[in-house]
Amino acid sequence: MTDNTGWWRSAAIYQIYIRSFADGNGDGVGDLAGVRARLDHLADLGIDAIWFTPWYPSPMDDGGYDVADFRDIEPLFGTLAEAEQLIAEAHARDIRVIIDIVPNHASDEHRWFQAALAAGPGSPERQRFWFRPGRGPDGSEPPNNWKSRFGGSAWTRVPDGEWYLHLYSSRQPDFNWDNPEIRTEFEDVLRFWFDRGVDGFRIDVADGLVKDPALPDVADGDETPFSDQEGLHEIYRTWRKIVDSYPGERVLVGEMWLADMSRAARYLRRDELHSAFNFDFLVCPWDAARFRDVIDRTLRAHDEVGAPAAWVLSNHDVTRHVTRYGREGDTGFSFANRLHELPVDRALGTRRARAAALLTLALPGGLYVYQGEELGLWEVLDIADELRQDPVWARTGGKDPGRDGCRVPIPWSGDEPPFGFGSGGAWLPQPEEWKAYTAAAEAADPDSMLSLYRAGLRLRRDLPAGSLEWLSLGEGVLAFRIGTEFTFALNFSASPVPLPAGEVLLASGPVGTELPTDTAVWLKS
Ligand code: NOJ
Repeated sequence: MTDNTGWWRSAAIYQIYIRSFADGNGDGVGDLAGVRARLDHLADLGIDAIWFTPWYPSPMDDGGYDVADFRDIEPLFGTLAEAEQLIAEAHARDIRVIIDIVPNHASDEHRWFQAALAAGPGSPERQRFWFRPGRGPDGSEPPNNWKSRFGGSAWTRVPDGEWYLHLYSSRQPDFNWDNPEIRTEFEDVLRFWFDRGVDGFRIDVADGLVKDPALPDVADGDETPFSDQEGLHEIYRTWRKIVDSYPGERVLVGEMWLADMSRAARYLRRDELHSAFNFDFLVCPWDAARFRDVIDRTLRAHDEVGAPAAWVLSNHDVTRHVTRYGREGDTGFSFANRLHELPVDRALGTRRARAAALLTLALPGGLYVYQGEELGLWEVLDIADELRQDPVWARTGGKDPGRDGCRVPIPWSGDEPPFGFGSGGAWLPQPEEWKAYTAAAEAADPDSMLSLYRAGLRLRRDLPAGSLEWLSLGEGVLAFRIGTEFTFALNFSASPVPLPAGEVLLASGPVGTELPTDTAVWLKS
């Protein structure tokens, strides 16, 4: 495989949520065999790397982010030998492989948590997690007021009376990173997978590993004692040394939802992580000035540390962007408020999603494509309550519908569910309308979302590198040049505007002498 310096600086990385990508053995759940059979779809799409969400043995309380063993493959997905084969097959197609690492917490079925439960209060086994006595005369109150990000308290009590911390579900106990054993363990896990050929890691909850050991109460919304603690940088410097000790260019990508972009950029200094998802871009409402602002802030913060930006529109945690953009008004995405009750104009959302794809593909840096976004899939909003699996649904008492709607299995071909996903149905029901959105149907249609992504991914390889210079083409029009020959324009305003001069390389919708509303264009000029 080629070893071009800095591949990750401009890479298009495709996110595979394995359970929902393709099912090779007919049990209704996606697996590694399914991915192997579909690698050509990814090669044809033109991506540079795959990021796999966790593939480790897991009781699947949180879709695999509850890891029971960091050195094996979930049996529902396949075997370790198969994972190694898959890595080799991807490499043979010049596709790199990034896997998820989940260092903030384990599954309650992890052997260390089971040992901690068995060993009892005060034991070294309990020091690997955050066990504490409760408050109140009989210890029946949690040790502090921290909330789980999935709803409810962040503490659960065990039969001997102690409580353990979990920032996510009660089946995801948080590791204690003050314990050197945890550090050594994860350094070894990194090596285990690098030795098997992976090209990098996406670090789950990268901002959360280190906690203020005083475990102080917090005011509502304050995450200071468990997010962005200074001690994290030392951990990532150690990890970076391991990464750099391997041949080829292997990478670390952080998942961090930090409010302050320049704080986030500190993790991207040259001896720490390579990149981090740009979630400010993801949550930006459909508005030219807001997009310009977030792009400016991103490029500035990243330039300061010499890191590339990584643009992202969707992932397995957020409402799919066809749906988000199909809501009128100032509806940026927020975890606290999924807005599922608002009406969705899907045609509008699709038009905007096409324009957003061209924006994302044109911006300097790298980008992520979440499986199904290249088909223009939308959030499935009408999943029956009894089928919902995301713990967010149960932990909020149904107030938050959770993330199942963006995790519905991918339609590949055919006229009826499961649309070629596998021979044994699909673990979440797919909408009937997806027959027009299968990969096969879209491959045959030059105007489909898939054709747009393919063309965009192919053409972007030849776009000039360089810094972005804003153009003023009127209010509501986001336009910039890169280098001397490339112009991008996206019309967010309510009326058409004159098409900028130049030869149209690609457009997200029909253009003539004018650039219509919610349409983007790439021009050679
Ligand atoms: C972020 C992951 O993307 C999400 O799916 C998961 O639930 C949490 N981290 C906890 O691991």
